[in-house]
Amino acid sequence: MAEEEGEAGGHHVLLLPGPMQGNVNSMMKLAQLLALHHFHITFLTTDFIHRRLYRFADIHSLSQTYPNLEFKTISDGLPDDHPRSGNNALADLYSSMNSFAKPLLRDIILSQTAAKSKITCLIGDGFLGGLTADVADEVGIPLIHFRAISASCFWALFCAPNLFESNELPIRVLCLLSIIMPDRMRTESKLIEGEEDMDRIISNLPGMENILRCRDLPSFYRGTETNLVDPLKSTVFDCHQTLRARGVILNTFEDLDGPLLSQMRLKFLRVFAVGPLHAHAKTTPSTSSFWEEDRSCLTWLDSQPLKSVLYVSFGSIATVTRERLMEFWYGLVNSKKRFLWVIRPDMVAGEDNDERVAAELEEGTKERGFIVGWAPQEEVLAHKAIGGFLTHSGWNSTLESLVAGVPMICWPCFADQQINSRFVSEVWKVGLDMKDLCDRDVVEKMVNDLMVHRREEFLKSAQAMATLAHKSVSPGGSSYSSLHDLVEFIKSASR
Ligand code: UDX
Repeated sequence: MAEEEGEAGGHHVLLLPGPMQGNVNSMMKLAQLLALHHFHITFLTTDFIHRRLYRFADIHSLSQTYPNLEFKTISDGLPDDHPRSGNNALADLYSSMNSFAKPLLRDIILSQTAAKSKITCLIGDGFLGGLTADVADEVGIPLIHFRAISASCFWALFCAPNLFESNELPIRVLCLLSIIMPDRMRTESKLIEGEEDMDRIISNLPGMENILRCRDLPSFYRGTETNLVDPLKSTVFDCHQTLRARGVILNTFEDLDGPLLSQMRLKFLRVFAVGPLHAHAKTTPSTSSFWEEDRSCLTWLDSQPLKSVLYVSFGSIATVTRERLMEFWYGLVNSKKRFLWVIRPDMVAGEDNDERVAAELEEGTKERGFIVGWAPQEEVLAHKAIGGFLTHSGWNSTLESLVAGVPMICWPCFADQQINSRFVSEVWKVGLDMKDLCDRDVVEKMVNDLMVHRREEFLKSAQAMATLAHKSVSPGGSSYSSLHDLVEFIKSASR
């Protein structure tokens, strides 16, 4: 590609992903694409993640393929033995990094003083929106935010003030207002909840009017006083920090999220919709896994009939109770369909690192099922034997499924997953949403609907979306052009 041959000499970009698998995966792809445009790239991860990458990912060969891509580390501030998965992990990592990482990041940037290696642009994960904006201001370099969550979630959080004003939030929180609308402080400080109609339609979200029900809002808008206020306050706060950045990079494409992107362009200086990042030519799959990939599942898939297998995975953070796990297991077995299931050793709540749970289930599943601790997901989804994906609707998993043309059954857990699953079922019509319903009968019915009764309909719409995704990253496509704009912007802004 012509622009890949161009020179970006002297431009040194530091990428700081949030310390989660999905964020590292997508920012790693972006790092590769920028390295191909000859930027000098520093990929800064936490010590914990760096150890994982060295152990399980192929970052040696990455360094060889991209000699201008270097890795550096920073502490996340948590003790070594602190659990970094599970539903509370995000909150712990967020508060710890916000307390510890600011001076560390500033020192890393300032220590690169030699003209040749001076960092000229920061691409910071919007998960750490306030922290990265403060450091960029202090050291005086341009900042671009990157969002690893879906555009719809980012926008629904950014629009919290609209929802508050129109009384559409399921709760009213004074501390939220005190941060994002200090001029409109209210006297009420109580959470109003309890009688919520979760099927109430939300109308006041520009670009997605009347699409969401209350239950489809990001999970930060749900919950009880103790577990809700801080995550909601901080995620809304960080979304608003993107107003301090020179632009925002989103892992999506025009044909997927066009109406939202148009609205965002009215608020933010620049919106670079460059996704699906992993679908651009020349990025490599599976370079940043935190767990060891069990590739034996690919051999098992080779012996299965065309589009006959349901792939089941709940991403890198979500945990399930043993009871819930058993409902999925009975539902899958009763559906009589073949399945490949990822059960991470730390996935079953309260039974940390106990591989026996998966082993017990596998014993009763041999006929039609295959269980692994971690799969090469991009390759699995691209395999011809895969006919559906039961997913927690994390944004990377959703995009990977869309690109592979695989219809989904969504069982969202937290963060952007509630809104992603709504878009899958109601906007893009490439699957079914199991939100807030989960027992063995529902699982069995939805598996059969997806894989048998409505199979042709879903395969057709998923295939059509996959075609649009590939078109967007091909020469002349919207994401291809947006990546080009991003490259040019970094060069001009960091002179
Ligand atoms: C988190 C949030 O939970 C999610 O909601 C948000 O959109 C992104 O950050 P995570 O839960 O890990 O991410 O889900 P997801 O975004 O789907 O990312 C998981 C990544 O791990 C995917 O890239 C997937 O390919 C990879 N994966 C997962 C594997 O490589 N192997 C597996 O067995 C499972």
